[in-house]
Amino acid sequence: MAKTRIELTVNGQAVEGLVEPRTLLIHFLREQLGLTGPHIGCDTSHCGACTVDLDGKSVKSCTLFAVQAQGSQVLTIEGLAAADGTLHVLQEGFRQMHGLQCGFCTPGMITRAYRLLQENPRPSEQEIRFGISGNLCRCTGYQNIVKAVQYAADRLAGIDVKEAAE
Ligand code: FES
Ligand code: FES
Repeated sequence: MAKTRIELTVNGQAVEGLVEPRTLLIHFLREQLGLTGPHIGCDTSHCGACTVDLDGKSVKSCTLFAVQAQGSQVLTIEGLAAADGTLHVLQEGFRQMHGLQCGFCTPGMITRAYRLLQENPRPSEQEIRFGISGNLCRCTGYQNIVKAVQYAADRLAGIDVKEAAE
């Protein structure tokens, strides 16, 4: 099948690749770029494990063709930590608040929460629950995920970490 060259920016780096028209963005990220943080948890656009940020919006990368990302800015979980390895405050929140068990949903969940906090830096518990409603977790019961996002929001607002973790 004829391939198309695409050029885009992923985690701040210019990348390019040759893709078939049917190649999904998740497959391009995982198989051509080696970014295996975004996971494939379903075939039905339901689970959100494949969530990435594309031009400032959360998208399920199993639901887009790679060619649709031509010229776009993509952020995956691999792009969140600082260059020196310091965790992003959301990653720290998931660690501190035990927001994961098996971890399968976690990259998509954190990437989604990243956009949620960009859009609404001080979300209520209800707004967090609604904001992550497109991401399914089979393990945690969501309570600690919500706490992890609240932790990150508090830290970003300058509230004392210990206070946030109580
Ligand atoms: S893999 Fe489940 S929504 Fe994309
Ligand atoms: S931590 Fe296991 S699916 Fe969410």
